[in-house]
Amino acid sequence: MAANKKKPDQVTDTGHEWDGIRELNNPCPRWWLNALYLSGLLVVVYFVLYPSLPLVNGSTKGLLGWTQIKEYKEDLAKVEARRGPFEKKLAMMTAEEILADQEMLNYAIGSSKVLFGDNCAACHGMGGTPVEGAGYPVLADDDWLFGGTINEIMMSIANGRAGMMPAHADLLNSEEVDQLVQFVIDSSKGVKNEAGLALYNTKGCVACHGADAKGVKAMGSANFTDKIWRFSGDEEQIRHTILHGVNAANDPATRIAVMPQWSEKLAIMIEARQYAIEEDEDPNEIDWDDELDGDEAERLTETEIKKLAVYVHQFGGGQ
Ligand code: HEC
Ligand code: HEC
Repeated sequence: MAANKKKPDQVTDTGHEWDGIRELNNPCPRWWLNALYLSGLLVVVYFVLYPSLPLVNGSTKGLLGWTQIKEYKEDLAKVEARRGPFEKKLAMMTAEEILADQEMLNYAIGSSKVLFGDNCAACHGMGGTPVEGAGYPVLADDDWLFGGTINEIMMSIANGRAGMMPAHADLLNSEEVDQLVQFVIDSSKGVKNEAGLALYNTKGCVACHGADAKGVKAMGSANFTDKIWRFSGDEEQIRHTILHGVNAANDPATRIAVMPQWSEKLAIMIEARQYAIEEDEDPNEIDWDDELDGDEAERLTETEIKKLAVYVHQFGGGQ
């Protein structure tokens, strides 16, 4: 190339020729050869500095003592050093305090995405919107079965939830079922249905769904008066719920809707704190040795659940 100014007829060839094209015997360009020698040298340098030769147990260590796992641990330590102060502060705060502190709120939300993806999204979907018809409640709307305050959400996560609705296949005749289906549909549209309401009251629906049919938080019963459906607004689906119930023990066709428990320990602690507040006692004075056996199941830590509650609250439906 640039270093090779000779014309083709001044150069020896290799003796190969195809259709008049001769293969010349030019030396390789200098820059190219230098690069080749340099890369050979680099191999030797790397060989000496880094782990290289595989041995029966492990490999040669290299002069630098570098390992991939060490590098990973150093990076991790850096991340934890950055997170450490936040995590410590978070552990001391109540969920309500986190909601009121923009910096901590940002941190809690940012660090909950993976937590939610790993533990919750399989049922509730990324962002709290599950696949339609899968039977899991939407967490991103403001319709709550068990309540949408931060503490209610925290309790839902800590203790798990399971709404119970009895199967009514043996309790109602088909005409009554039709009327109740219609009543539920009418309620969601704000249409008055006196005959349906009378049945609703006499057949016991009122005990769980409430006098105003808006649902009762303590039971996690569905609200009929909005357009947000727990399962479906489809007539056949409503009929199915009424006939076979939800988590009804003796009906194989019942809907199953169980939210797993993530920390028995935290659930007991929340209840004990609430009780103390109701009794005008100081929740900081609770003797936890009395309340807890020490063998309570904990799939997530208190701080993780606090973060998740804040995260869910921020989906848009928190109250
Ligand atoms: C195995 C599926 C499943 C997983 C995993 C799951 N949930 Fe649930 N969750 C449910 C079901 C089902 C319900 C509704 C229970 C009912 O119908 O009574 C529910 C209810 C809830 C509620 C109450 C909603 C309301 O309207 O009051 C919250 C809050 C919640 N889940 C948050 C979470 C969080 C946070 C996680 C992850 C730590 C999680 N869930 C993991 C199935 C699941
Ligand atoms: C023991 C309490 C209880 C009684 C009695 C009861 N329900 Fe329910 N019902 C529930 C609960 C709890 C849910 C929500 C279940 C869940 O999400 O896990 C529910 C859900 C429903 C739904 C689903 C609504 C939706 O948005 O998809 C319908 C429809 C319904 N009930 C109708 C009725 C009717 C009609 C009656 C009376 C014949 C009745 N229920 C009696 C507790 C009850």
